[in-house]
Amino acid sequence: KRTVVLISGRGSNMGALIEAASDPAYPAEIVGVISDNADAQGLRVAAARGIPTRTVLRSDYASKAQHDAAIDAALGGFKAEIVALAGYMRLLTASFVEKWLGRMINIHPSLLPSFKGLEPHRRALEAGVKVHGCTVHFVTAEMDDGPIIAQAAVPVLAEDDEASLIARVLRAEHPLYVLALKMLAEGKVAMTDGKVRFSSGP
Ligand code: GRF
Repeated sequence: KRTVVLISGRGSNMGALIEAASDPAYPAEIVGVISDNADAQGLRVAAARGIPTRTVLRSDYASKAQHDAAIDAALGGFKAEIVALAGYMRLLTASFVEKWLGRMINIHPSLLPSFKGLEPHRRALEAGVKVHGCTVHFVTAEMDDGPIIAQAAVPVLAEDDEASLIARVLRAEHPLYVLALKMLAEGKVAMTDGKVRFSSGP
C-alpha cells in the first residue's frame, strides 16, 4: 500500500517506517514524506533515503482548511492510500480527517486514553504512574482519540526524568508503528462504524 508520512520535526518514527518498508516483503511502501516545517530534520533523513519530500507551510495559506487542502493535494500527487502521522504537530480539519477516515493513523507517546495532547511524559511523571507507553490509533476529528490499533507499555522507573522516559518510550514507538502500519496495509485491521476490527487477512 502506498503510504505517505506526515512529519513536523525529527522524524525518527518516519525513519523506522522507511527502514521497515525497504524490505520488499513489507506490505506498505513509503512513497513520500510531507512536512509542515521546512527545517524538519526528518526531511533530510527521508531525502537521504531517496524518498520524495514535500513541504507544505501553513503560512502559505490563508486558512487551516486551505492548508489541509494543499496537503490533501500533495497526498493525491503521491497517490497515497495510507497516511501515517509521525510527530505531525497540527490538528487536521474535520473534512480532511473524514476523507482519510480508516486510512490515516497516528502514534502518540502515552497509553491512550491517558495523557492526550502535549507533554504526555511530563504529565505521566507528575501523575506518578508506574507504567507508561505509546499508542497507534486511527485518526478521528478529536485529538489523540481514535480507535486503538496497538499499544506498547514501558516501566516508569524511580530515577526517571522526562528525558529518560521519552527515550524509553521512543524505543518502543518505532517497532510498534512498524507493526501497526503492517497490520493496516495487509488488511488485518480496519475501522468500521467507529471501531477497530481485527481479522486474520485482507
Ligand atoms: C514521537 O514521540 C511521537 O509519538 C509524537 O511525537 C514524537 C515524534 O518523534 N507524536 P519523531 O519525529 O518520530 O522522532
